[in-house]
Amino acid sequence: MEAFTILIGTMTGNAEFAAEEMQQVLRDELGRQVDLLMMDDLGPEVFQRDSFFLVCTSTYGEGDVPENARLFYGRLCEERPDLTGVRYAVFGLGDSTYRATFNFGGEKFDCVLASLGASRLGERAKHDAQSGVTAWDYGRDWIRGWYVSVQGMLK
Ligand SMILES: Cc1cc2nc3c(=O)[nH]c(=O)nc-3n(C[C@H](O)[C@H](O)[C@H](O)COP(=O)(O)O)c2cc1C
Repeated sequence: MEAFTILIGTMTGNAEFAAEEMQQVLRDELGRQVDLLMMDDLGPEVFQRDSFFLVCTSTYGEGDVPENARLFYGRLCEERPDLTGVRYAVFGLGDSTYRATFNFGGEKFDCVLASLGASRLGERAKHDAQSGVTAWDYGRDWIRGWYVSVQGMLK
């Protein structure tokens, strides 16, 4: 059974809390092995792992990826590795008060991964800090629904 790797882009920890909740659901309820990796020291070679990838990232600045994701995102854009065969999902965090750039962090990763040949499974999650639901509660519910919708396509 395919393992999961959650790649975390965060500034103040919300994405990390959400990733931990999703790890718990995937592991304890769905029987998947899950590694959590902060994006700080990652490069494109992380995609050589035999794994399904869940990109869990917030948004900062004017629609930018958070600081700890910058190098990793930049290397993907510049080095343009061939990611054919890589499969991923995206859990994005944002705040709808930033109307013009809402959830752009997740969208940026989604766009670059797709442009490199990787395939997204399921819809991209867009947590909104204005929703009144924490990112970790939202994450727990979202991952359950996501899993049901893509289950037949997972290895
Ligand atoms: C200075 C600043 C800039 C932000 N810019 C955006 C933005 O452009 N678009 C967006 O959707 N959310 C934006 N946000 C909201 C964060 O993405 C949101 O609060 C998220 O939950 C933070 O998650 P983190 O703790 O994992 O970094 C911004 C927040 C701050 C404090």
